[in-house]
Amino acid sequence: MHSVPIWDPYQYLRHAGHRTRPFLDLLARVGELPDQGKPARIADVGCGPGNVTALLAERWPAAHITGFDLSPEMLALADKEQAGTTAGGGWMDFRPADAAHWRPDEPYDLIISNAALQWVPNHPESFSDWIDGLTPGGTLAFQVPGNFTSPSHALLGELCEAPQWRARLSGHGRRYVHILEPAEYLMRLADLGCETDVWETTYLQLLTGEDPVLDWVKGTALRPVLTELADDPAAEAEFLAQYRDLLRKAYPPGPHGTVFPFRRVFAIARKAA
Ligand SMILES: C[S@@+](CC[C@H](N)C(=O)[O-])C[C@H]1O[C@@H](n2cnc3c(N)ncnc32)[C@H](O)[C@@H]1O
Repeated sequence: MHSVPIWDPYQYLRHAGHRTRPFLDLLARVGELPDQGKPARIADVGCGPGNVTALLAERWPAAHITGFDLSPEMLALADKEQAGTTAGGGWMDFRPADAAHWRPDEPYDLIISNAALQWVPNHPESFSDWIDGLTPGGTLAFQVPGNFTSPSHALLGELCEAPQWRARLSGHGRRYVHILEPAEYLMRLADLGCETDVWETTYLQLLTGEDPVLDWVKGTALRPVLTELADDPAAEAEFLAQYRDLLRKAYPPGPHGTVFPFRRVFAIARKAA
């Protein structure tokens, strides 16, 4: 079993609009950062291709922002497209890190993570260190998908356990289910003395094109399967055809496109000033 899925930033970015919306909704609830008399210091954990990291530079133009990610493919694109001086005179850079072990190496005003912590087992156990690493009045903010019981994921999990596939793919449909329920996030963050703001939203994403749900999951939940079958194109094609047929039944196209409901969980914790 490959321990780390190989990411394809270009496939991921094919649905950039729908994927960016929750980040903007998260950002809208992040208040002012502490005024330290110097540019804000921001960490984006699991930054991916850096396109949402760049939105942080729009909100805090002078900030020094560092994106951390485990995927060399994602970091390469982020570095190429986003690194360097920002339009507002700030600075953006990108560094390899495993979020499971990442700890703030200097005080941060904001630690933010969008659609990444679901890949990180035990991430709530890092909260205490991350909040310790915030400046007084600083913020931890994250968003994780909460759709692991939806047909797209349930069908993927079942197919990986089918007799034809389980020897190679057992567990690959569920390797990323590490999220807590919103109430548990709230409790853990409040227990750490933070002011909290936790909520969930189900977006009714209207996708277009042929097999759009398959195209969506190819950028995320299917990465472990695609990584495992990468050296066997015939098996990959067969798996994709079987999964596509299941998705077509679960998400039939309607008159306006294919509705793909997507639940997401948001949490903001502000450290006492
Ligand atoms: C769905 S993408 C989100 C990217 C970006 N935050 C965004 O909102 O567009 C998930 C990202 O999490 C990263 N990731 C997965 N496991 C990780 C880990 N243990 N440590 C750091 N990054 C990780 C992946 O490499 C990928 O870039």
